[in-house]
Amino acid sequence: MKLTLSVIKADIGSIGGHICPSRRLLDSVRSHVAEHGEKLLLDSYVSHTGDDIAIVCTHERGPGDEQIHKLCWGAFMAGTEVAKGQGLYGAGQDLLKEAFSGNVRGMGPAVAELEFEERPNEPFLFFAADKTDPGAYSLPLYLAFADPMNTPGLMLSPSMAEGFRFVIMDVSHTEGDRVIELDAPEDLYAIAALLRDTERYVVESVWSRSTGEQAVSVSTSRLHNIAGKYTGKDDPVMLVRVQKDFPATGEVLAPYALGPYVAGCMRGSHQMPLMPVPLNSGISYFDGPPVVSCAAFAVHGGRLTEAVDAFAHPFWDTVRGSVSKKAIDMRRQGFFGAAMLPMSELEYTGIMEKLRALEPRFTVRG
Ligand code: F6R
Ligand code: MG
Ligand code: MG
Repeated sequence: MKLTLSVIKADIGSIGGHICPSRRLLDSVRSHVAEHGEKLLLDSYVSHTGDDIAIVCTHERGPGDEQIHKLCWGAFMAGTEVAKGQGLYGAGQDLLKEAFSGNVRGMGPAVAELEFEERPNEPFLFFAADKTDPGAYSLPLYLAFADPMNTPGLMLSPSMAEGFRFVIMDVSHTEGDRVIELDAPEDLYAIAALLRDTERYVVESVWSRSTGEQAVSVSTSRLHNIAGKYTGKDDPVMLVRVQKDFPATGEVLAPYALGPYVAGCMRGSHQMPLMPVPLNSGISYFDGPPVVSCAAFAVHGGRLTEAVDAFAHPFWDTVRGSVSKKAIDMRRQGFFGAAMLPMSELEYTGIMEKLRALEPRFTVRG
């Protein structure tokens, strides 16, 4: 069967600032999806990462389907009412448009979708990150799909020998989707040259060159491009197919041991290390650190198994320890230099006003 995996996520309110949605809010989203999705969906899974709620849907309607998107939009609208009723902070903050119009793209929620012929055994990974943007996945994807130092399958597995195609989006181009296709390994240096800039060039998808099958879908929306002002970081979701013609689960997870510095954390304006966390984790230190969770599934006939928590394993405790150390070290330098994002990426405009007010006080010496 041709199966579609759709994940649609939004921040529609949380307890204690931007840290975690309430149980009642999650339940309301879950029950809306169960009730209204009965005829549309084969299965669903609702979870949160930090202050973001993600709905994973399985169905046969293809990517960008109006009914599926409308269902999730409806669930977030219903959830927003609950969030308002509980006085949650930022209720409905990612729902940037008043009324649904065909597709949630460009309306605030993030979307990642994959369509494929279901294999007899079909494992996949669902990643969700909070307090960061889609560029956070670029290095882990590069390492998993293009670097034999991380992924021995690129040398050892005949079905991966031809490498992978990266579709990279220029997310600063707001008039339409500006993309480039580059092939690993031939275009490795070009891929690296683009991905070094996490705020501008973002991996949108990855494809197997031997089978033509899509392996990865990343949500690439930039909230401040849609809203024209600060509304929170983009907090990206990602779907990754694994095993056989694709990297093994462990090859996809391994790069997260690096804890790379990514954009986000406090006020969406800092560089802080990305911490792999258990499913349904909240946010704490310095409105961060940026976190990523991973739910592993098998799917058969569109029915999902229970989610297995890929970052709950004791191995990741050591990583969390080293990421905490990196985070504290970076915070010791406060606003200085690399600790904060460049001017163009600051999510609050207050500093612009401060600088403007200083303009008349500058003098030029003769
Ligand atoms: C970062 C984030 C938080 C808020 C901060 C201030 O993405 O969501 O760090 O920026 O808590 O929030 P406001 O401006 O809502 O008081
Ligand atoms: Mg938020
Ligand atoms: Mg968030």
